[in-house]
Amino acid sequence: MNYLYYLLAYIIGSISFSYLLVKIFKNEDVRNKGSKNAGGTNVIRIYGWKLGLPVAILDIFKGVFVTFIFKKYDLGYPVVALFFAVLGHCYPIFMKFKGGKGIATTAGGFIFLFINIFPFGLAVFAGLAVLTGYVSVASIFMVFTSGILIIYTYALDKIEIVAIAGIILLAIIRHNSNIKRLIRREENQFRIGGK
Ligand code: G3P
Repeated sequence: MNYLYYLLAYIIGSISFSYLLVKIFKNEDVRNKGSKNAGGTNVIRIYGWKLGLPVAILDIFKGVFVTFIFKKYDLGYPVVALFFAVLGHCYPIFMKFKGGKGIATTAGGFIFLFINIFPFGLAVFAGLAVLTGYVSVASIFMVFTSGILIIYTYALDKIEIVAIAGIILLAIIRHNSNIKRLIRREENQFRIGGK
């Protein structure tokens, strides 16, 4: 029975706020713009904070919402549900599986489930974003280090550890193009367009 709830988590994860808000307010497909990523960073980069901040907040909320519902109604493992929500965000069923990178949704779920690591994750993200100017570097390291810290500091079942490893893996796989650009020294710095 639980697998149906996990499917629901995937479907909720598939709701792409970056795609929807850009479509509604700009009548454009964010996946054809900037880094071509359906995510808050790219929306901020192309359209500015006014549109990008609500996208980022809604993506974070998506991670909080799914984990909150799983916990409150005891539907299964909340962190496994988070994995499926992030999977949906990255490979959305409604958008031919071409979505975002899942960082904000991961952050939302991690914050809700593992609040103790929040100051650490925030420090890693903010520190690296400011130091390097690359949100991609900050995102990959934030998810990787926070995930490892969670595994080592929380008492988790095997399936939860696998889910966190899956979330880390998704973050790395989805940043494949960023990693290639970083190696070529062609990665987009975080400059705000605000068209
Ligand atoms: O959270 C997404 C970020 O890590 C990278 O986004 O648009 O620079 O590929 P982008």
